Amino acid sequence: MVTLSVIKADIGGFVGHSNTHPEILEIAKKRLEEAKGNGILIDYYVTRCGDDLQLIMTHNKGIENKEINTLAWNIFLECAEKAKELKLYGAGQDILSTAFSGNLKGMGPGYAEIDFEERKSEPVLIFMADKTEPGAWNLPLFRIFADPFNTAGLVIDPEMHDGFTFEVHDVIEHKKVIFRCPEEMYDLLALIGQPGRYIIKYVRRKSDNEIVAATSTTRLSLIAGKYVGKDDPVMIVRAQKGLPAVGEVLEPFAFPHLVAGWMRGSHQGPFMPCSYEDAHPTRFDGPPRVMCFGFQLSNGKLIGPIDMFKDPAFDRAREQANLIADYMRRHGPFQPHLLGADELEYTTLKEVMNKFKDRFQPLE
Ligand code: 13P
Ligand code: 13P
Ligand code: MG
Ligand code: MG
Repeated sequence: MVTLSVIKADIGGFVGHSNTHPEILEIAKKRLEEAKGNGILIDYYVTRCGDDLQLIMTHNKGIENKEINTLAWNIFLECAEKAKELKLYGAGQDILSTAFSGNLKGMGPGYAEIDFEERKSEPVLIFMADKTEPGAWNLPLFRIFADPFNTAGLVIDPEMHDGFTFEVHDVIEHKKVIFRCPEEMYDLLALIGQPGRYIIKYVRRKSDNEIVAATSTTRLSLIAGKYVGKDDPVMIVRAQKGLPAVGEVLEPFAFPHLVAGWMRGSHQGPFMPCSYEDAHPTRFDGPPRVMCFGFQLSNGKLIGPIDMFKDPAFDRAREQANLIADYMRRHGPFQPHLLGADELEYTTLKEVMNKFKDRFQPLE
């Protein structure tokens, strides 16, 4: 068995919330290289998407492992110290608690992990986002694993023809439910169309219950009880040979759907697929970005990455995202560019209501 762990945190932005300082990446690389030397990890890759630092790691310790969680946590703490020294913006932003006891749950950082038997050839795709929330993966995951107009393999590959199951988490009530597709497709959609609350955590192949996709579901504002920056989730998807082809996994991102999380975590904007170089959101702190690194696993070694959205075939999606960004921006402080009151991360509404409470008169 090999475990693929993607653990991420915003530990300070350079400049503002747009990018990550190279010294932060260097610290993470150095510590993961040591962990590889000590035999804790098989392999690793360090990257960033906007102001979020991602640790991509392979090992044999299973998911939610204390040693791996502690390794990541200590790296985030050390990086946060450097971020404070450089006075990077929001230094230590995603470190929400100091009471760490070996488990990242409720601590702030996001994590997506899968444990599996490596196949003869094991292509994996790691998606990383900035300026959005984990529900942003709902639409593409549905299309990859349940929509035959996206994924030809659902119709023509006998190994996929039975369909997939979706484990959905209710992040408000802390409950989970599993839906079987295609037969419960409409029930699944009734929930995941509300991506602020219902988030797809795992997708499994129905025929053997093999986990084929995992997402991070951390919602920072629900942990902190206030706005502390956006969740900026990650997702792992395995591909090919009885699973969607790499191209079927990437295809939904040709449509830059609207996601929550732009500017102060409080606006809707198009989810723009882009290369590593362009995962650097600046316009109105956005628009929200998604980048994707592809790897071939070879006995746990991460062969790659290939920058999957660095393809002119996604130019049109980027162009469309820019048009949608223009259109949405013209709404200024109006919904639906602005999120609804229950989703707003950052708001003066309470103060405004308080200030004018005596001026309110009953109607009639
Ligand atoms: P190859 O014939 O290149 O293996 O491709 C098959 C496939 O899955 C393409 O989507
Ligand atoms: P991050 O969550 O990426 O730090 O962005 C915060 C934000 O909302 C910037 O406008
Ligand atoms: Mg930030
Ligand atoms: Mg971010």
